[in-house]
Amino acid sequence: MFGSDVSSVATWNPGPVAPPARTPAARPLVIAHRGASGYRPEHTLESYRLAIALGADYVEPDLVVTADGVLVARHENEIGATTDVATHPQFANRRTTRAVAGREVTGWFVEDFLLAELKMLRARERLPHLRAHNRTYDGRFEVPTFDEIVDMVLAESRRHGRPIGVYPEVKQPSHFAAVGLRHEGPLLASLRRAGPHLPAYIQSFDAGVLRALALQTTVPLVQLVGSDDDLLTPRGLREVSTYAQVLGPRKDLVGPRDGDGGPAGLVDRAHEAGLSVHVWTFRNENTFLAPVDRRGSEVAAFGDALGEYARFLSLGVDGVFTDHPDTARSAVAAQPSQRCHQSRESDGDEQNGCRHLESGQSQDVELHEGPHQAHSHEQKAEHQRDDVDLMALHGAPRCFRCRGRGRV
Ligand code: G3P
Ligand code: CA
Repeated sequence: MFGSDVSSVATWNPGPVAPPARTPAARPLVIAHRGASGYRPEHTLESYRLAIALGADYVEPDLVVTADGVLVARHENEIGATTDVATHPQFANRRTTRAVAGREVTGWFVEDFLLAELKMLRARERLPHLRAHNRTYDGRFEVPTFDEIVDMVLAESRRHGRPIGVYPEVKQPSHFAAVGLRHEGPLLASLRRAGPHLPAYIQSFDAGVLRALALQTTVPLVQLVGSDDDLLTPRGLREVSTYAQVLGPRKDLVGPRDGDGGPAGLVDRAHEAGLSVHVWTFRNENTFLAPVDRRGSEVAAFGDALGEYARFLSLGVDGVFTDHPDTARSAVAAQPSQRCHQSRESDGDEQNGCRHLESGQSQDVELHEGPHQAHSHEQKAEHQRDDVDLMALHGAPRCFRCRGRGRV
């Protein structure tokens, strides 16, 4: 299930290794979007736990803040669509209309609930008509806190014998900050409490909160981008790289939906700027797929998601957010694993600074040129150390700095 490096990760022992901060992954990451949300109501411990069982490297909680300042996992601060709050008469008078990100929204808002009150609610499937099976679980699962997610991930990591990380998103930070509920403090406190063996990224659409976090943490930061934007120009990407390590673009910004065109070039441009690229969101159902990948006419039926993954992975993306982690894991496992080594005979990558590292050569890591030329000696040394640590962690015979592309 876990591809070519299964034997090494299966024997993983949580020793004193550095977290994979500011370092490209050994292979494209499988990031479970809201857990295994194709199979369970999103943002529940059960959804995250299933995602891990299906091979996810990271689980992705979207984080909002309760009235008493606790981070909980919901995609929106309005909780009427994904919980049974409407069935609780004691909360009927909390229903209200409020401006959120410039839009009038009516419903129940997480910032009006204490954690103890929120714990009385149960999650519901967001897409009941599309994901009818998931309705089986309506009313069964709580809204988890971020701390509960972290504890579960650490426990599952020990149980499965492989490193599993968290990939929290700071949702609507301006909205919450305006009512005195900031994400940053509790988020960093939770990650500190988890200790150094919990791989983590922090993501947001909000560049302001990422810039602030960059001053407070070495956890790698992810700039999400949902529309064509100045951030995606070479200059914009260079600016992003001053505070973030990863670009998280919407799928359509990376590759053509019809699958018959060439790469849009964004992945290469981001790599040139020193950014990894984690793309969202991959889903198996026909309704989310390009026409070329659909199979049959049922919107809820699964199409050729593997075909879609293959196109994006061939562009060199470094991670995929997915509602169906098992499918993503299969796609990553099926990907040709040694693009760097494949090109050894031609010396093409050598000309670009790649030294064609192999498993077992980690003590002889040589740094790549290109974007690293702008780094200080100390930063290069840090990257070198992280490369070695990651190679030891994953045991993958792969050149981490260029990931087979010749450059970072
Ligand atoms: O965080 C990546 C992706 O999840 C962003 O979109 O709306 O699903 O949080 P959203
Ligand atoms: Ca998200």
